[in-house]
Amino acid sequence: MTDATPRQRWLLGPGHDCEPRTTGTRPYRLILLGAPGVGKGTQAALLSARLGACQLSTGDVLRGARTLDACDRSPAIAAALDAMSRGELVPDDVVLQIVRERVDCLRCGGGFLLDGFPRTLAQADALDALLAHERVELDAVVSYELPIPAIVARLSGRRVCPACKAVFHLETQPPRVAGRCDHCGTALVQRDDDRPEAVRVRMETYAEATAPLIDYYGSRGLLVRVPAHGAPDDVLRRTLGALDARVPAPSRA
Ligand code: AP5
Repeated sequence: MTDATPRQRWLLGPGHDCEPRTTGTRPYRLILLGAPGVGKGTQAALLSARLGACQLSTGDVLRGARTLDACDRSPAIAAALDAMSRGELVPDDVVLQIVRERVDCLRCGGGFLLDGFPRTLAQADALDALLAHERVELDAVVSYELPIPAIVARLSGRRVCPACKAVFHLETQPPRVAGRCDHCGTALVQRDDDRPEAVRVRMETYAEATAPLIDYYGSRGLLVRVPAHGAPDDVLRRTLGALDARVPAPSRA
């Protein structure tokens, strides 16, 4: 019996079933890497629609915890939310607990698109162990690349839907009705970690803690570098082309 969509299954955690989406292509199991704001979430949504694999964002799960009453938040989650709003990483043990609770999504026959995880070498090692235990292999790690000023412009214009998590941009992807989500009509908001001081911390943290993953996956032959300039559909085409070269999928349209 299914009671959630694949995306909700990831967001809500244990205790919910879902029906994997099928698109007629092989299941893809990918990690999307890249600096905050480079467009990983936007590409994850487009790739998910195209490949059927579910978008698994640790940031979305953590932001979901904000909707809990303050007294229902564990001390670890309260500390994690404070770290997020400052632009810092959430401790590895909190993130790994979130992922382990959702390990069914890594076993899913429809594949997955990990968006924002792993973000440290310790998380990458833990993911390796988890996937080995589940006998699941990664197909590729897509690294999106864009100069910092272009990334900052993407972050400053971003608006998000707190209900369905859709992402917009005031200039490049404006909603049809100003300030309202195209999909569910909810009022759009600006993320509190898109404030300039938090963006600065996020960029520094990325360079220090996450960028080393490029070499980590490069040395294992899994890295696919994709320039992230241009419109979202251009980046999608580039990503699919790069994936085809690495993981041929003759049945994909
Ligand atoms: P998370 O939610 O993962 O955020 P992030 O990695 O900082 O990435 P963003 O969501 O900011 O950007 P994005 O690359 O997805 O870009 P988007 O598609 O939205 O993490 C948030 C926080 O949670 C972290 O700072 C940390 O505290 C914590 N956290 C999460 N995971 C963690 C982990 N594993 N370990 C520890 N802590 C963790 O695009 C940005 C904007 O640009 C949008 O407005 C979009 O419309 C626009 N845009 C996108 N593509 C294009 C394009 N091609 N052309 C023009 N505009 C575009």
